[in-house]
Amino acid sequence: MDNLKIQNLHMNFSGVKALDDVSFKVQKGEVFSLIGPNGSGKSTLFNCINGFCIPQQGSIKFENVDLLKIKPHETVKHGISRTFQNLQNVPYMTLLDNVLLGAHRRLSMTDTFNRWISQKEREREEAMALEVLDFLGIANFEKKYLSGQPYGIQKLVEIARALICKPKMILMDEPAAGMNDQETLEIAKIISEIRDILGITVLVVEHDMNLVMSISDRICVLDSGKILAMGKPVEVKNHPEVIKVFLGDEAHA
Ligand SMILES: Nc1ncnc2c1ncn2[C@@H]1O[C@H](COP(=O)(O)OP(=O)(O)OP(=O)(O)O)[C@@H](O)[C@H]1O
Ligand SMILES: [Mg+2]
Repeated sequence: MDNLKIQNLHMNFSGVKALDDVSFKVQKGEVFSLIGPNGSGKSTLFNCINGFCIPQQGSIKFENVDLLKIKPHETVKHGISRTFQNLQNVPYMTLLDNVLLGAHRRLSMTDTFNRWISQKEREREEAMALEVLDFLGIANFEKKYLSGQPYGIQKLVEIARALICKPKMILMDEPAAGMNDQETLEIAKIISEIRDILGITVLVVEHDMNLVMSISDRICVLDSGKILAMGKPVEVKNHPEVIKVFLGDEAHA
C-alpha cells in the first residue's frame, strides 16, 4: 500500500533547481533512503514534505491527504514527524523536557486555559516520553540536562521528540551524521526497530553508505535535484551512473 506519493516535484531557489521533476512512491512500512552528493536536494525534499518549502510544481500526497494544502505544523496531525540535519535541541533543558517539546497536544489552547487538564496531560505525556526514551535505551538519562551530553545521545533525543507524537511516517535527515562507528550501528538498529516494532514508515537521508545499504528496502539517488536511480540497495550499488557520479570506490567496499 502506498503511504507517500510524490509527483513531478519542482523546487527552484532563484534559478537553482533544488528539485527537478522528482516523482516516487513510498509504501507503508518501508525504510526508504534518499542519498546523493551535497546540494543534491535531499533536505529540500524533506522540507517540501513537511511544508517548510512550497514547490513551484508537483504534488505530495500522504494517505490521500494533499500535503501541499496544509500548514507545516499540521503535518504532525496527519502522522508525519521529522528530525533535522542540525540538532534542534534546547541544551539548557532536561532530556525529558526536550522530548516533551514534541508532544503536539501541549500546544493546544484547551490545555493552556485548563490547568488541571494540563497537569493530567503532562503526566500522560511524561509517561509517553519515558516510554520513548526507554525504547531508545536512554531512559536513565531523563533528568539530565542535554548540555554536555554526548552527541550520540543528543541525536537520540531528536529521534525521541519525533516519536512522541506517534507518527505513521518519520523523516530522518542524516541521523548518523557526526556519530562514531558504534553509535552508527546503534542508529541502524533503532531505525529497523522503529519500522519493525513501532510499525512506522521511515524516510532517511544519509551519507553513510554502509548504514544506508544495511537498513534500506529501497534507495532513491538524487543528483542536482534529479532522480538518478532508484531501487533495492544491491541495484543502486551496482548502477553504473551511481558509481560514476558519487559512490566511487565506496560502492565496492
Ligand atoms: N532555503 C533555501 N534558499 C535558497 N537555496 C536553497 C535553500 N535550501 C536549499 N537551497 C539550495 O538547494 C540546493 C539543494 O540543497 P539541499 O539542502 O536540499 O541539499 P542536500 O542534498 O540536503 O545537501 P547536504 O547533503 O549538503 O545536506 C542547494 O543548491 C542549496 O543551496
Ligand atoms: Mg541536507
